[in-house]
Amino acid sequence: MQKIVILTGAGISAESGISTFRDADGLWEGHDVMQVASPQGWHQNQALVLDFYNQRRRQLKTVNPNDAHIAIQKLEDTYDVTVITQNVDDLHERAGSTDIIHLHGELNKVRSTGNSALVYDWTEDLNLGDQATDGFQLRPHIVWFGEMVPMLEPAIAITAQADIIMIIGTSLQVYPAASLVGYAKLGAKIYYIDPKPHISHELSRLPQLKIIADKATTGVSQLVRELMV
Ligand code: APR
Repeated sequence: MQKIVILTGAGISAESGISTFRDADGLWEGHDVMQVASPQGWHQNQALVLDFYNQRRRQLKTVNPNDAHIAIQKLEDTYDVTVITQNVDDLHERAGSTDIIHLHGELNKVRSTGNSALVYDWTEDLNLGDQATDGFQLRPHIVWFGEMVPMLEPAIAITAQADIIMIIGTSLQVYPAASLVGYAKLGAKIYYIDPKPHISHELSRLPQLKIIADKATTGVSQLVRELMV
């Protein structure tokens, strides 16, 4: 069975109603990213950070996977598929994809600020005073700017095995996620689906790149139909 790796970013969730990060003049729902997604921001104002992710978690309950998420799941009938996403939403899971790596964490998980191995499923609001079993305050299980990306090594290993790589809805501006496609093996087919494709350093060096300058729901559905014949 051929191996497909699907690298997704915020753009795949845009048509589900979740804002991207860099289409809206760099603000995240009106917040400075360093205020709500960095250890410094957490240190300065834990309540603000908790409220930001509580709003994101509440919003997630009101949106659904779109045709692009669903088309990706269908690929599993014919290919060995791994989704490697920068997104913290659960839309790939809800579309039925079964092998997903979240490089930047998950909105519906929280962890101890003491022992980071203490991770819990959490779909409601998280507030000051909510503690892990080790007695430490709980925080969003999100990789903030400047923090390590624990799933990077497995993501690199899987990407290097892919016969086909689909890059969907990412501006490829945040590292190390943006470096993944650079590990593509010789001869792997690369597709990049984005209405405003950003040709990163890694992409510019890939001869076998096909750019589909389209939105995810149409571009991905069309490509999946072609790959499934
Ligand atoms: N279909 C496909 N792509 C789309 C659509 C759509 N309907 N709408 C927008 N896009 C594209 C944009 O053109 C852009 O290239 O999605 C991309 C979104 O880029 P970003 O907002 O930078 O999101 P992303 O690349 O996922 O950001 C990476 O940065 O802010 C951090 O941790 C955060 O995971 C995030 C990371």
